[in-house]
Amino acid sequence: MDHLIKEILVEEDQIRKKVAELGARITEDYRGKDLILVGILKGAVIFMSDLVRNIKIPIGMDFMAVSSYGRSATSTGEVRIIKDLDGSVENKDVIIVEDIIDTGYTLAYLTDNIRKRGARSVKVCTLLDKPERRKVDVPVDYLGFEIPDEFVIGYGLDYAEIGRNLPYVAALKEEVYNK
Ligand code: IMP
Ligand code: MG
Repeated sequence: MDHLIKEILVEEDQIRKKVAELGARITEDYRGKDLILVGILKGAVIFMSDLVRNIKIPIGMDFMAVSSYGRSATSTGEVRIIKDLDGSVENKDVIIVEDIIDTGYTLAYLTDNIRKRGARSVKVCTLLDKPERRKVDVPVDYLGFEIPDEFVIGYGLDYAEIGRNLPYVAALKEEVYNK
């Protein structure tokens, strides 16, 4: 995959430390609550699986999949549910776990959607944030790293399904996604 990568933006050990910090914060913030983490497939799977092992209180896990960019690297603003939650989130405290916030369309839609199902609270935990690209405002409660406006792969994130298994986050070479 080396020929696709411009530079590493977040190293493996930086991720490990940050995920431990986020897990510890969530542990304290949700003690005695009825917490469900909702991971957004497929990008958040690696982050979520490391995050939950750093949370030291009982939790539930569920997943949703929404329409993604496919092969193109730009957002359309359209969001469609491809796989819905298995269980109810009524009266639960939900944290949506995402890989990255770009325009914000996906998370704006998802927070609204989960609130309407009667969740007691809905917060957002994202590994990465590209604030320069934001189109709609989404409050981020738990953030891993802010990154510049680059298309990134690794630690769950892909370009046309490539790169999810890299243990770090790396910027793609421009010539790859401008083709
Ligand atoms: P948003 O709706 O524009 O905020 O897009 C969020 C979704 O777009 C993320 O969950 C990712 O699946 C995808 N995405 C946005 N930027 C990147 C990137 O740099 N690399 C890989 N996927 C990305
Ligand atoms: Mg995603």
